Order: sequence, then C-alpha cells, then structure tokens
Amino acid sequence: METVGRVVVVDDEPVILDLLVTVLKSGPWQVDAFRSGAAARDHLLAHGADVLLTDKNLPDVGGLDLVALLKEHDPAAECIVITGFPSLDTALEAMQLSVFDYIVKPPRSIFEVRQKVERAWGKVRVVRENGRLLSKLQDRNASLQEALERLQSTQTELIQSEKLAGIGTLAAGVAHEVSSPLFGILGLAEAIVDEDDVEVVHEHASEIVEYSKHIRDIVTELTRYSRSSRDEYRTTVTLASAIADAAKLVARSVRFPIERIIVDADPELVVLARTNEVQQIFVNLIKNAIEATLEGESADSGIVTVTAVKSGAHVEVSVRDQGPGIDADAVSLVFDPFYTTKPPGEGTGLGLNIVYRIVTRYSGSITVSSPPGTGACFVVRLPRSNAEIA
Ligand SMILES: Nc1ncnc2c1ncn2[C@@H]1O[C@H](COP(=O)(O)OP(=O)(O)OP(=O)(O)O)[C@@H](O)[C@H]1O
Ligand SMILES: [Mg+2]
Repeated sequence: METVGRVVVVDDEPVILDLLVTVLKSGPWQVDAFRSGAAARDHLLAHGADVLLTDKNLPDVGGLDLVALLKEHDPAAECIVITGFPSLDTALEAMQLSVFDYIVKPPRSIFEVRQKVERAWGKVRVVRENGRLLSKLQDRNASLQEALERLQSTQTELIQSEKLAGIGTLAAGVAHEVSSPLFGILGLAEAIVDEDDVEVVHEHASEIVEYSKHIRDIVTELTRYSRSSRDEYRTTVTLASAIADAAKLVARSVRFPIERIIVDADPELVVLARTNEVQQIFVNLIKNAIEATLEGESADSGIVTVTAVKSGAHVEVSVRDQGPGIDADAVSLVFDPFYTTKPPGEGTGLGLNIVYRIVTRYSGSITVSSPPGTGACFVVRLPRSNAEIA
C-alpha cells in the first residue's frame, strides 16, 4: 500500500505559500510548492499528484484550471481550493469539478488546513487501494475464467474420448460375440455344399437359422443396453439345453469334436435370464477350455467337462479343461477387459470380461481355480429361478 502521498501546493503569495508548506511538511507527504500556476501545471503534467492544494486566483494559470487538468489525468486525485472571496459562482464551478474542499484565505487555523489535506489524502489512498484490489481481482477473475475454460474443453475432450473408447469396447464386444455363431454358420454352409442327404441339409439349414437368430439377438441387444429395465426380456432358461447348445456352437465354430465336450447337467435346473446371454457365458468358457486343451499335452485326446448342479438357491456350473492351466499371478487378471495371453489376431481378451459382466448383472459370480498340473476350472454361480421344473 502506498504510504507517502504527493501533495502539490500552489499560491502566488510567498508568505501564505511558506506557511502552507510549513504546516504540511511534518505530514506523511512529499510536498512540492509552486508560486505560479504555469509551473504547477508543468509539474502536474510531468509527475501528477495525490492532493492539490491551490489558490484559486493565480496571475497566470488559474487554480480551477489546475484542478480540471489534474482531475482529467487522474480522477482519483483530490483538490482543495484556497480562495479569498468565496462566492456562489466559485462554489458551483468547484462543485462541477468535484473539488474536495475549500479553505478561505487567510486560513482560520493551520490545523484546519492540515486536517483537510489529511482527509483528502485518506480518501485518495482508499480509492487507489480499492482500484489496486479491483484490478488484482479482475486479473484473478480472468485467470480463473481461463482455467475454467481450459477445464471445460479438457472435459469435453475427455467425454469425447471416453465415448469413443466406450463405442470401441462395445464394437469389439459385439464382434467378439458374433464371431462364434458366424464361424458355426460358415462351417454348416460349407457342409451343405457337399451334402446330398436332404435330411442332413435340412438339419444344417435349421441350425443356420438358429445361429443367425443368436447373432440377431446379440446385435439387437445393442439398442437395449441404454434402457433401464432389462427384466422384461428375461425368460426361464433350461440350463442343460443352453449349455448343450453352446457346446455344439463352439465345437462347430472351432471344429472341435463334440464328443470331447462332456456335459453333465441336471435337466431340472432353470434360471431367469435372457437365453442368448446364458449361452454367451458358456460359449466363451467352453471356447477358452477348448483352446487351452488344444494347447496342453493332451491336445489330441483332452476333454472339456461341463457340470451343472444345484447349490442351495443357486445353480453351479463348472467348466473344466485339461490344458496348461493359469499361472497364480495371472488368475486375478483374466477377467480384465483386453487381457489376453494369446498371439495377436487370435484373442482379444474380451471373452471372460463379457462373461463376468453378464454373470454379475444376474447377481451371480464367477471364480477360477487352477492348481498346478490340473488345467483350469471356471465355476459360475447363478440364482435359481423360482419357476423351476418340478
Ligand atoms: N481355460 C483356460 N485355461 C488357461 N488360460 C485361460 C483359460 N481361460 C482363459 N484363460 C486365460 O485368460 C485370458 C483371457 O481370456 P479371454 O477369454 O478373456 O480372452 P482370450 O481368450 O484371450 O481372447 P478372446 O476370448 O477374445 O478370443 C486368456 O488369454 C488366457 O490367458
Ligand atoms: Mg476367450
């Protein structure tokens, strides 16, 4: 905060000027005294002032002209006019120029002079300090505004990239889920080309229809993801047939002998779910189990076993293989999206993440155990439906 005020005193009478300077010198000001209006004007133009104490009647440049000049250059500065003949006209003119105060010549008391200058300087100081604070505030405001704008544009970019990432994951997920039935259809269609037996052709054709519907359901689901109520699409699904269908579909799509997938499922078990989602769970688990088996020592003879049993209020399905198993430090990673140990182009790492998301959506759970040398065993638990077949 500025503490030393700059006071300019102007009077053409040397005695009065000396008196004023003497009175003011002891205050917290730098005092510059002038006997002529012209000299004072030059000083004001060059250096400005905080308080101007001037005689009204000067022989050259008048006191009120000096007031007008200072106010024009620095509206925060204050002026006190000394006049020997106070008149209404002078008062009005001074008021128009926003003169701070008057002193009638000769001053009644030197303390009055000092007091008025002190008050004027006090006001100037407050106005200047307010201006300083205001401009600081405006600067701060401007930088806050700038920061806010930066934040908003970063947020927009983030939302955009998150949306893109979301769309990317969704698209990858759909492509992943569609690929198994699609390869199944391809296998069946190729078989039809070389098949003469009409009955077999019919059988293949109806399977093609079934797999196509499966694909349709997966794609249709895309449009339903945004809706809140998904319950309306749930039906009672017989677990044994959903598992058998999944096994057949995977065996067909990866050309694995169906006899090497052993399904042992309690035919009474039902869950309340969307058929194609239950199928997706087992398509992914059985496909992984087959891929692991083909990688293991028993690649040519290994089997995949699927067992479904009742477990309290749940159904419990285990998918077991004879592959190399999963390393202990990788067990916690397998459900992460895009985690894969398969070579590029062979695995996206989405299968188990899709399974995990479906299972948890139905308030179920999935766990994996893989003691060394025993292959992997995935266990899915889903709530049993009340509409169980008696
Ligand atoms: N039965 C299993 N035996 C051994 N490792 C497995 C088994 N199932 C999953 N994994 C491990 O978990 C990883 C993730 O499996 P996930 O099904 O999510 O993706 P992926 O099979 O690699 O690729 P995608 O399913 O997209 O073809 C696999 O890469 C593999 O390392
Ligand atoms: Mg997989």
